[in-house]
Order: sequence, then structure tokens, then C-alpha cells
Amino acid sequence: MRIDIISVVPDLMRSPFEGSIMKRAQDAKLVEVHFHNLRDYTTNNYKQVDDYPYGGGAGMVLMIEPIDTCISELKAARDYDAVIYMTPDGEVLNQSKANQLSLMGNIIVLCGHYKGVDQRVRDLFVTHEISIGDYVLSGGELAAAVLCDSLIRLIPGVLGNETSALTDSFQDGLLAPPVYTRPADYNGHQVPEILTSGNTPKVEAWREEQALKITQSKRPDLLD
Ligand code: ADE
Repeated sequence: MRIDIISVVPDLMRSPFEGSIMKRAQDAKLVEVHFHNLRDYTTNNYKQVDDYPYGGGAGMVLMIEPIDTCISELKAARDYDAVIYMTPDGEVLNQSKANQLSLMGNIIVLCGHYKGVDQRVRDLFVTHEISIGDYVLSGGELAAAVLCDSLIRLIPGVLGNETSALTDSFQDGLLAPPVYTRPADYNGHQVPEILTSGNTPKVEAWREEQALKITQSKRPDLLD
């Protein structure tokens, strides 16, 4: 998978890609991530990439020209399966959407900033609009990092144990059961006995039961 991220403040989002799973995936050549600073694509002497909205109103709007130049340059070099725009009015990201997007080859992720992008960018270039939740961030950068993390960890071979993404919360529509590690007794607080029994079918049955119980109590909407 190749991910090209377009932003006016790419430095804001580099660090999540420089550690842990996202770094490991890049080191293993399972994903390539490229950042593009929108200011590098403007012909404007002042490197201006935003302007006042027509019709008035608060905030600035990202201009179409540098975005068009950047996307066109990328598309001239290779084919893309999706141009994703991060926006609070997009489709809310969930595990099934992440599964679907993780199967793509090359994607462009466009981060909005200020009041967003000129509507013509959305009309002409964007194929998917994604929100990470019903709240407004200062820009799409952190949302893009969240989206990329959710996709990259699903690429086969990225997680050490192939099954670990499959047992994540939401993969089977349920929240994950609780987990414990050593010591089995911490100041009198015991690990559930079943987990130290060595009886794998019983452990599996316990985990399923716990997953259902936790989902019922914390997120009953998932069971509808
Ligand atoms: N940009 C600003 N807020 C956002 C959100 N909630 N999701 C995606 N992009 C955003």
C-alpha cells in the first residue's frame, strides 16, 4: 500500500508514523507513506494556499489550485484507488470502513485546515470523505494519522501475530474481552482462574462470554 498525505502542516503528523506499528510496517516495506506540503505546490510568491471565502464569513478556505497541482502530479506518476478527504462532515470511520480501505493499493489522503477546502476540490477530485468522529479538530492531520493507523495495522504481515487484528474490538462486532498478565495475584487481586487453567476451549468460551457481557454493558448499540 502507498499513502500520499497532503497537508499545509505535514510536520504536525510525522511523529505517529515514526514509531511502533506504523514505523515497523514502513521498515518492512509493507506500506510507503509520503507527505506533501501544499505550500510546495503553489505558484503564489507568498506561498499562500488559502483565501477568504466568497460571500464572506469567518475563516479561510484552502484554494483549489495547489491541491489540483499536487493531486495531478501524484496521479501522473501512478494510479490511485481513492482520494480521501478528512472532514468532520464525512462518513464516520468504523472498523468495517477501515477493513475496506485497507485493501486498497494507492491512496491519497487530503487534510483540510482552517474552514476546509474549496467545494470544487471535493466535487472534482475527492472519492471518499471520512470523519473520525462527531467533533471538530483544528485540521485533518490528526484525523489522517488516526485513519492511517487503523488501515496500516490491518495490512497482512504488519502485526507480528497475524491473528491479533482479528481479535481486536469491533472485528466481530463485539468489544474485546479483558486481558491480564503476570502476576496472577497482585496484592490479593486475582486473575480469573479460568485463564490460568490451560483449558483452551474453556478460555475461548469465557472470552466470548465476556466480550458479549462488556458489549451489552458499554455499547449495547453494537448488538442491534
Ligand atoms: N477535520 C476536522 N475535524 C475532523 C474530524 N472530526 N474528522 C476528520 N477530519 C476532521
